[in-house]
Amino acid sequence: MDETAAPSSPAEHGEGGDGGPPKGTDAKFRVTRRSFLVGAGAGAATAGVVLGGGIVATKALSPSSTTTTSGTTAVTAGGPVPATMRRVSLNVDGLSHDVVVDNRESLWETMNFQLGLANSNLGCDRAQCGACAVLVDGKPMNSCTILSSRLGRGQKIKTVASLATGPGIEGLHPIQRAFWLDGGFQCGICTKGFIMSTYALLTAIPKPTHDQIAEGVSGNICRCGEYAGIFRAVDTAAAEMRGEKVTYVSKPIVVAAAAPAAPAPTAAGTSKAFEFVTPFSTIEEFDPFAQQLKGQAGILDVSGSQGTITVTWDSSKLTEAQVRALLAGMGRAVK
Ligand code: FES
Ligand code: FES
Repeated sequence: MDETAAPSSPAEHGEGGDGGPPKGTDAKFRVTRRSFLVGAGAGAATAGVVLGGGIVATKALSPSSTTTTSGTTAVTAGGPVPATMRRVSLNVDGLSHDVVVDNRESLWETMNFQLGLANSNLGCDRAQCGACAVLVDGKPMNSCTILSSRLGRGQKIKTVASLATGPGIEGLHPIQRAFWLDGGFQCGICTKGFIMSTYALLTAIPKPTHDQIAEGVSGNICRCGEYAGIFRAVDTAAAEMRGEKVTYVSKPIVVAAAAPAAPAPTAAGTSKAFEFVTPFSTIEEFDPFAQQLKGQAGILDVSGSQGTITVTWDSSKLTEAQVRALLAGMGRAVK
């Protein structure tokens, strides 16, 4: 991932930056950098500055940050900031956030501890796993490693929070929907990062090969090892983004706008939900079973999950007892 960004100087941000201790410095507030950051919270009224090798929290610059939707600055705190800090305006998902950041503060730290944005996950905190990936001017970057103080020049930071356009599955971005329904995750720690890397990949390459997908997400690690599902999700998302009809492993639904509506059961259809005597181990096992059942004479529709199945059958051809016998004959007896 590209971690390069031009540094910003105090002068460029209209800061004081004389290197001396700020007014109000109180040596009794000695804290670690991380405890300072955790304790700072959104709109922090404290600021950290290195003084003589120790880290000192200073009561300064209150209020230190505000948020606007106009993209224009709304900083109300006056006065200079220490040389070890910068006043920056971070454009995150189209919103401008004016904050004062420690020079060593990562974008992930600023987003979480100052802005309260839980839109990227922290995995390794050392640029190795990609869980924290966001896009900076379209390029995936590890937010745990890129410094907030370098992002105040109008760079556009895009996170997974900006992708969905509405509620429910239908409101998700095709990439989010595919990761969800195609088994592209297990614990989910890596997922936001994978989604953002996939977004960058599919923006550049609408129909990537397997090798191009591997290259596109090479900065991301899934410790749960869900790579098969992840690659499948990228393929599915790419297809939907190209306007193709897609189906998913975990649920036989059709989402593409051009997709025909699922055939409605006939007037003679009877529908009933059953509980499996022995549930499937994973949801991925259900879909092939459902497809096989759908191919049986008299079966009109099938849906369900690991533990239950809803069958709609043509009551002029099958009875409930015959449906139960059919399921048992396929190795999945129902209660
Ligand atoms: S948390 Fe940033 S790369 Fe792992
Ligand atoms: S789903 Fe757990 S690390 Fe990827």
